[in-house]
Amino acid sequence: MSSLPQILRAKLAATPSGRLPFAQVMELALYHPEHGYYGPGPLKIGRQGDFFTSVSVGPLYGKLLAMRALQDWQALGKPAGFTIIEQGAHDGQLAEDILSALEGHNFRYLIVEPNPAYREAQARRLDGHPVHWVENLAALKSIPLHAFFVCNELPDAFPVHLVRWNGERWEEMFVEPDGAEAFRFIPGSCSCEDLEAEVKHLPHDLTTGHVLEINLAMLAWIRDLAQSAFRGSIFIADYGLDAEEFYADARAEGTIRRYRQHQMDGHVLEDLGGCDLTTHVNFTRLIEEALRHGLLQREYDLQGRVLGRMATAWIQSLEGSPLDPATMRQFQSLTHPALMGRSFRCLILEKPPSP
Ligand SMILES: C[S@@+](CC[C@H](N)C(=O)[O-])C[C@H]1O[C@@H](n2cnc3c(N)ncnc32)[C@H](O)[C@@H]1O
Repeated sequence: MSSLPQILRAKLAATPSGRLPFAQVMELALYHPEHGYYGPGPLKIGRQGDFFTSVSVGPLYGKLLAMRALQDWQALGKPAGFTIIEQGAHDGQLAEDILSALEGHNFRYLIVEPNPAYREAQARRLDGHPVHWVENLAALKSIPLHAFFVCNELPDAFPVHLVRWNGERWEEMFVEPDGAEAFRFIPGSCSCEDLEAEVKHLPHDLTTGHVLEINLAMLAWIRDLAQSAFRGSIFIADYGLDAEEFYADARAEGTIRRYRQHQMDGHVLEDLGGCDLTTHVNFTRLIEEALRHGLLQREYDLQGRVLGRMATAWIQSLEGSPLDPATMRQFQSLTHPALMGRSFRCLILEKPPSP
């Protein structure tokens, strides 16, 4: 048994009820500094890792985002000190791709990174580039900037609460020991008021046993972003669905999955700390909360369409000369509906200056 399950077992033993909300277990499994999947330092993403992301496809994604940042800067009147802000920067690959594509422009790059081991890895890769770091979004409340905020696959990595329809009401799924080695789910009443408030808006006409994820961390995150002092836009790319799509019978087990070596399954309480745990983003709920807190929706669409639109002017500027085969392959992977074009969605919000 690896150490993370032992740590969880000790935590459960120290809890009067002997059980914990799944969100706390997921937090531990992903972010425990020594034994969490994302704890000790950035693992490889891509062919040699556990999963692919748009960033691991190649530098084209960063190039397209750099073009979009450039357009925003022009639309804002070319302000001095324009800054790209990235959160969830992992090993700094996207930052490197964006900065390389923006060579010659005097843009700054600010990474929001709470984990010191990640900051070190990012600093090593980005040595020589104009990069700064803050630990969290709260630091952005006092930094007025013109900025382009970007995150790729960030809210899918936030710990979520799990709720289950029991035929009469929504109940929360807790985790408790199952014998000496394993863990299991057990239902109970909601562990906090925020969760109770979210559950009130869920439908009651689903099949008994239907499971949904409630990403309270994502809602707090978008509120924090709305309260930061920068002005510009926010680009969020992730795999996700609209609210209604979560209620389909085909998704009755929820979207929470674990990933290891490109294999995916729903055994989310096994090999804790050794696998990535991830959920689909509820874009309807994310957009609703963003608008409620003063952000403005500019674009929301399938990734293939958003990136296709971003690439249009650049492809036209090539005046018919073909893309090199590597760039063509990357474009296909990012935009083709059967690859990443349909399962991933992009949301672009406008961030007005703080009142
Ligand atoms: C699925 S990975 C995506 C990595 C990278 N953006 C990419 O697309 O290849 C999620 C990343 O989000 C990071 N992360 C999770 N919560 C974070 C937070 N609150 N602030 C900054 N990064 C966070 C994790 O450490 C991890 O590197």
